[in-house]
Amino acid sequence: MRLYLYIFSFFIVSKIFANDSFITNLEYAKMLYENPRGIGCNKCHGRYGEGKIIAKYKKKGKVYYLKSPNINNISKEDFFKSFSSRHKIMPKYFLTYQEINSLYFYLQQIKRKIDKKRGKK
Ligand code: HEC
Repeated sequence: MRLYLYIFSFFIVSKIFANDSFITNLEYAKMLYENPRGIGCNKCHGRYGEGKIIAKYKKKGKVYYLKSPNINNISKEDFFKSFSSRHKIMPKYFLTYQEINSLYFYLQQIKRKIDKKRGKK
């Protein structure tokens, strides 16, 4: 019985990671972006990684904005670096090389789509 369970879960996992069936690389990457074993990147960096205002607060009568940076226009090197460094606001994630790679891939694809829509090449 247990053996069947193993075979079944192997089947499911291999389906998930297969390139051509069940879900595509892009769909997988989008899922990861929105649900990376922790708070979704989209919650802070926006749906397309364009960066956004996370919060607005007042201090001594002055209004401040807490903003997240755009992450769809940075180099792969910088993208990777940010996962091994400490951040003040951004939580620490424990992602594998493939997962980070996938997130980068997703943001690049999304950026390309947006640029196309706006008529940029
Ligand atoms: C709680 C909000 C929050 C979440 C969730 C979050 N980030 Fe961030 N991120 C930030 C902020 C704010 C910064 C700017 C540095 C800092 O102060 O932490 C940042 C910085 C970065 C940088 C560095 C940008 C640069 O210019 O070098 C990258 C890359 C990045 N985030 C990617 C991600 C990815 C991918 C995820 C999801 C796995 C994610 N972030 C989730 C808030 C967040």
